[in-house]
Amino acid sequence: MTRDKHTVKFTKPVLSNKDGLQLATPEIAAKYIARRLKTGTIADLGCGIGGQVIFFAKECDRVYAVERNPEKLDYAKKNCELYGVDNVEFILGDALSPKTRDKISDSDIIFSDPARPLAEKRRTLDNLEPRIDDLIKLYSGITQSLAFHAPPQMPPERIGLDCEYEYMSLNGQLNRLTLYFGTLKKCRRSAVVLPGNAYLCSSDAPAIETAKIGEYVYEPEPSVVKAGLLGELASTIPGSCNDIYFYKGDERRTLLTSSSLIASPFFKDRYRVAARTERDISKIKGTLAAEKAGKVVLRLDVAPDEYWTVRNELENGLAGSKTFHLFGFGDEVLVCEKIKR
Ligand SMILES: C[S@@+](CC[C@H](N)C(=O)[O-])C[C@H]1O[C@@H](n2cnc3c(N)ncnc32)[C@H](O)[C@@H]1O
Repeated sequence: MTRDKHTVKFTKPVLSNKDGLQLATPEIAAKYIARRLKTGTIADLGCGIGGQVIFFAKECDRVYAVERNPEKLDYAKKNCELYGVDNVEFILGDALSPKTRDKISDSDIIFSDPARPLAEKRRTLDNLEPRIDDLIKLYSGITQSLAFHAPPQMPPERIGLDCEYEYMSLNGQLNRLTLYFGTLKKCRRSAVVLPGNAYLCSSDAPAIETAKIGEYVYEPEPSVVKAGLLGELASTIPGSCNDIYFYKGDERRTLLTSSSLIASPFFKDRYRVAARTERDISKIKGTLAAEKAGKVVLRLDVAPDEYWTVRNELENGLAGSKTFHLFGFGDEVLVCEKIKR
């Protein structure tokens, strides 16, 4: 098993330098992308340590793995051996050179997961390496079936390319955005939720209606929110319990609501609404005591360095054993209990 700082990335002990592992696509995401791009011959341009190549090799007949960094390409070879795949041709070179293009000109699909700066004030496509527009220029003469990863923080309007924008949630976090061109495009915007592989495509579903708060609230998966698919999500709920509404949302959090308890693979978490109160410490504490709370999780706008001060103040004196989540929208605070999966 191989972990990076936050997650288990691979089920086998892959070899890497430090940034190669950090940039590598986690196995569960790589498997999903490989199944979606299953084909005869695929090229991965800028393959890094081979996190994606391994799974392309398991799904496709043949893979070209192109990388300009010889150390990483060497790790990619070793990692492919580790996973027992031998249908990969490794090419040391610049993905943007016509020489590389000519070597891989029989590819059915061209894929790239370009490197991006670890931090940027505002995410853009300009600093990706290789750049997506250069890849399109060089490779669209070979095939129209192109797929690229892009920074998931970017909304479709800011990218402005004619393709499918697929946002991916992994373990409840926004993980990546993949752009699919040509025959790979299934719709304009989509969301996928991993694990579980739930997939939602943009359609002519009506926009979700807004309503007063019901007995339950739901946090939609971030990929669904980012792709703007709340109406589509609502239309997946079966008719018999179709009372899902938008409650409130801002840049940081979105809540849907209903009067009866609903299940959906596109909900990250579900909550029972215990109470609604004002953003006033003593009122919140009174509500928490009445609900036999012992702990709180803050989903309010609190400066990161004040989080524990506010949380300790709220928990101080609570004698119960339950945990409540406090969602804040302006002056309103919802006191909610998470429903176990
Ligand atoms: C985000 S990493 C790819 C990670 C890979 N998907 C994985 O799972 O291991 C991007 C890679 O593109 C490579 N790269 C950037 N520009 C390139 C170019 N013009 N030609 C070839 N490789 C390039 C970088 O060296 C880096 O290893």
